[in-house]
Amino acid sequence: MWSQYIALAFASILTVSYAASSFTPARPPAIPLAVKSPYVSAWQKAGSDTGGNGPGNGGYLAGEWATFWNGQILGWTGLIRVDGTTYTWMGNPAPLPTVVNQTAFGYTSTRSTFIMDVGGKLSMRIIFLSPITPTDMARQSLPFSYVDIEVCATDGLDHSVQLYTDTTAEWASGDRSAIVEWEYGITPNDNIAYHKFYRQTQLLWSETADQTEYGSWYWATNNAAKLTFQSGSDTEVRGTFTTSGQLADTKDTTFRAINDNYPTLGFALDLGNVNATSVSTLFTLGLAQEQAIQFDGANGVVSVPSLWTSYHATEADALEFFYKDYATAGGLATTFDNKVAGDSNAAGGADYIILTALAARQAFGATQLCGTPDAPYLFLKEISSDGNVQTVDVIFPFHPLLVYANPELLKLLLNPLFVNQEAGQWPEKYTIHDLGSKYPNATGHPDGNAEAQPLEECGNMLIMTLAYAQSGGDTAYLSQHYNILNQWTQYLVAMALIPADQISTDDFAGSLANQTNLALKGIIGIQAMSVIANLTGNAADAANYSSIAHSYIAQWQTLGIAMDANPPHTTLAYGMNDTHGLLYNLYGDKELGLGLVPQSVYDMQSNFYPTVMEEFGMPLDTRHDYTKIDWEMFAAAITSSSTTSMFISRIAAFINQTPTNRALTDLYSASTADYGAFNFDARPVVGGLFSLLALPKA
Ligand SMILES: *[C@@H]1O[C@H](CO)[C@@H](O)[C@H](O)[C@H]1NC(C)=O
Ligand SMILES: *[C@@H]1O[C@H](CO)[C@@H](O)[C@H](O)[C@H]1NC(C)=O
Ligand SMILES: *[C@@H]1O[C@H](CO)[C@@H](O)[C@H](O)[C@H]1NC(C)=O
Ligand SMILES: *[C@@H]1O[C@H](CO)[C@@H](O)[C@H](O)[C@H]1NC(C)=O
Ligand SMILES: *[C@@H]1O[C@H](CO)[C@@H](O)[C@H](O)[C@H]1NC(C)=O
Ligand SMILES: *[C@@H]1O[C@H](CO)[C@@H](O)[C@H](O)[C@H]1NC(C)=O
Ligand SMILES: *[C@@H]1O[C@H](CO)[C@@H](O)[C@H](O)[C@H]1NC(C)=O
Repeated sequence: MWSQYIALAFASILTVSYAASSFTPARPPAIPLAVKSPYVSAWQKAGSDTGGNGPGNGGYLAGEWATFWNGQILGWTGLIRVDGTTYTWMGNPAPLPTVVNQTAFGYTSTRSTFIMDVGGKLSMRIIFLSPITPTDMARQSLPFSYVDIEVCATDGLDHSVQLYTDTTAEWASGDRSAIVEWEYGITPNDNIAYHKFYRQTQLLWSETADQTEYGSWYWATNNAAKLTFQSGSDTEVRGTFTTSGQLADTKDTTFRAINDNYPTLGFALDLGNVNATSVSTLFTLGLAQEQAIQFDGANGVVSVPSLWTSYHATEADALEFFYKDYATAGGLATTFDNKVAGDSNAAGGADYIILTALAARQAFGATQLCGTPDAPYLFLKEISSDGNVQTVDVIFPFHPLLVYANPELLKLLLNPLFVNQEAGQWPEKYTIHDLGSKYPNATGHPDGNAEAQPLEECGNMLIMTLAYAQSGGDTAYLSQHYNILNQWTQYLVAMALIPADQISTDDFAGSLANQTNLALKGIIGIQAMSVIANLTGNAADAANYSSIAHSYIAQWQTLGIAMDANPPHTTLAYGMNDTHGLLYNLYGDKELGLGLVPQSVYDMQSNFYPTVMEEFGMPLDTRHDYTKIDWEMFAAAITSSSTTSMFISRIAAFINQTPTNRALTDLYSASTADYGAFNFDARPVVGGLFSLLALPKA
């Protein structure tokens, strides 16, 4: 896919005018630049709107600042000098040298690629690669990202070219008045030149505006003979390059606040005379935090290291490994890109690639591999909505991505939840909602004081644990956690059929008694436990829970299907004949191959959804016009193929046309494509867009 459309893009440079950029396979609301962890999360806003973020420019890299997912500017800048004239290819520095003409943009699961025309003389191809290696823990554990810049002449002539790029220290704290320090160095073994920068007062475990307040950032490139560097104020460093085409090889030693004459860390490379043969230069950016998470585990709160510290003795080692690994990482990325694109196309058609390829980095980018190789964990941040750690009803919509990409990672995500609760660090009989109110503090809720979604989370844990055991071929895991799974099932047996007035995962929609979809999740959870009991040799439990689940599902059909409705459909809540909603919890029945819910229910919903579809999708339920992108895809994955296609094409239209301009929102108006009730951005729940790919092969 990728090489194909980028090749096309190159062809178009040579033959057509430079008026506007193409966007392949779509113009996303925001373009992922470096998106690799909750803190390495840089985006280029593209949608025209607001949302408190200021208007985007339509998806052009130059003339607009990159931002952290939360909207804070990251002064990441790119300039290029051609025959003595300087142009801007990234960012919005002041004064602003002429911006290059962006002619094409394309994204895959791991790459965002821009094609630029520079004065009709040069073409640039700028590739932002944030690797995803789901089965390679050592690589996946590194919170680093690549920028590969290729330049060639397009007019048959040779041109004198100097390439420049910098970053400010804005990554190092969410508090722009925080004092930062920086240093310049060369790594000992592989001759990598780096600017290292960090908050002077390290605030371990802290965040400001969701940016991290500790660790060291590395901005690096090969220490080539014609490389120059400089640290200094933004105007000074960029001005030096603009006037001379090189930097001064000088270090500013006046450590100061991030926003005090913005400390700027620049590299310039003299590419000499560039002809039609392309020349490429590689940069890397990443964050080194040796300590990743505070975790309330089996023996109380402990500090959990970043997993990469097990593979690399020093930060410089990690940097060298990552820099030198580009060819391998690029090959693995292409394999992953092609797998996602190929599988998506086969399962849902070309439009489906628009969804999955955009979701992959965002979803993985909310996670972080921690611990040691013999006790690894995957931690997840509930980005944007509240910053909770390991939120069970966020992991649930996210989990199809892991079932598809590597079920082992789902185990690493569930493990901390089991460890904490099995150690008695949570007092309730039902499942905990999350492991901590604010990332990276997974310090639990020993006082029982967490958001209460008892039915939702019990069902989620049972369904996801069985999903892992089935897809990962690991029944020992079920035996290991049988007791607590059984405890949660007993809660469901008591509470699922007639749900008390409570919130579901869609807490923003308010609480309600007798929610049809929520009851279904609980009943499916009971049947999942029947299968778990069967697989672990607990015959009596298997028979008991299966009989309860079958009795409940029969009653549920009487209670939850609207009376005399045409066409028939399930309700939002029992007895509310005039209501409906996305019955997304039906997904678990199909995912786990339970065969609990009769086919007639699937057929009924497949026939009904098209009758209430709006331009950009189907509203979540009859209370509001907004919808959830993850739940739409859960519902769509198990409908008739024509209904599946209808959902996919409308979600693709949403992605392409939404005026929102932060990382893909999961909560949006089905009629206007703008935000729904709240601005939800960059959330890992978009892993749910992989739900069609996580179903067992028929
Ligand atoms: C961008 O394209 C326009 C229209 O063709 C042209 O006038 C302008 O010089 C180009 N700018 C650059 C930097 O190439
Ligand atoms: C995490 O807990 C520490 C105390 O252990 C506190 O200083 C820090 O602010 C907390 N972090 C967040 C993001 O709330
Ligand atoms: C283009 O430049 C490269 C690097 O300087 C050189 O090796 C090559 O011979 C040049 N090609 C042509 C056609 O001039
Ligand atoms: C079936 O499970 C329920 C809920 O745990 C329990 O109350 C009941 O005694 C069980 N019945 C049998 C026959 O095991
Ligand atoms: C929930 O549904 C049950 C069964 O129809 C009914 O008896 C009960 O009154 C309902 N609860 C509420 C609060 O509406
Ligand atoms: C599990 O289910 C199979 C198939 O229905 C049955 O033959 C077997 O006896 C069950 N095992 C247990 C332990 O319930
Ligand atoms: C739902 O429809 C049935 C059949 O028309 C009717 O008997 C019942 O009263 C209705 N329920 C409500 C709450 O309107």
